Amino acid sequence: MSRLAYVNGRFLRQAEAGVSIEDRGYQLGDGIYEVWAVMGGKLADAEGHFARLERSLSELRIAMPMTRAALTIALRETVRRNRVRHGIVYLQVTRGVARRDHAFPTAESAPTVVITARATNAAASEARAAKGVGVITTPETRWARCDIKTIDLLPNVLAKQAAREQGAFEAWFVDAEGLVTEGASSNAWIVDADGILRTRDAEANILRGVTRLSLVDVAREAGYRVEERPFTVQEALAAREAFLTGAGALVMPIVSIDGQPVANGHPGEVARTLRAAYIRRAVETAI
Ligand code: PDD
Repeated sequence: MSRLAYVNGRFLRQAEAGVSIEDRGYQLGDGIYEVWAVMGGKLADAEGHFARLERSLSELRIAMPMTRAALTIALRETVRRNRVRHGIVYLQVTRGVARRDHAFPTAESAPTVVITARATNAAASEARAAKGVGVITTPETRWARCDIKTIDLLPNVLAKQAAREQGAFEAWFVDAEGLVTEGASSNAWIVDADGILRTRDAEANILRGVTRLSLVDVAREAGYRVEERPFTVQEALAAREAFLTGAGALVMPIVSIDGQPVANGHPGEVARTLRAAYIRRAVETAI
């Protein structure tokens, strides 16, 4: 079955689909994206991703290309036509096509909207979670507006590649104060020596992860104490557990940082419990 992409209102075979070479996303990185986890063929944490999409667009002064309702239909239809039960759906919106100029085009240009969906291997993801993953650390080199989910991901690309080359799953950015900000494509968490769940506060220069926000609720409902408070790499190494969250990896235990074990080097009970609780709730509330 060939994959189908939604491009500006039409479904095209992905291999043949394209946008203009003067698309501002392609030339200037002038656009944003969102990623929803797909569970049972439905969109997980839909509301949170829509809210962040609208915020990212408004920060860049790009109009919402269609209503939420219409977008929901387009996202679901992309998922359905690609027969994705478990995986991700990717939405990218750019400022559209215009003669190259850094400033916004003066003539109205319609945003370019692209949606793709792809199945991921749920069993492989569970196996990875059962084993836990490694992260490396890398200096924070990104701009000051990481709260906008822009398609400009070069520092994240380089960090992720460095992780890959070192056999790690993710790279954690560490700021000038020695505090972990977040991962290249996920948010960072620890269960500290006092048993408190900690993740960087949303006022810091991080992406306000939708999975992160849902997990704060799930964890509190399960009786854990959660503090949105930064931690150092040393604190993470001395922690009882570490894990990461994101629409791709969901909740993923971390067992090593820069090759050094976290606790006993095995996934911890809290991360395991929260992964199951998060998935349960996401499946129940998916639309
Ligand atoms: N990445 N931080 C960064 C830098 C991210 O790129 C992501 C998500 C997250 C987690 O956010 P959420 O829980 O809303 O997925 C945090 C997506 C999955 C990606 O780039 O593919």
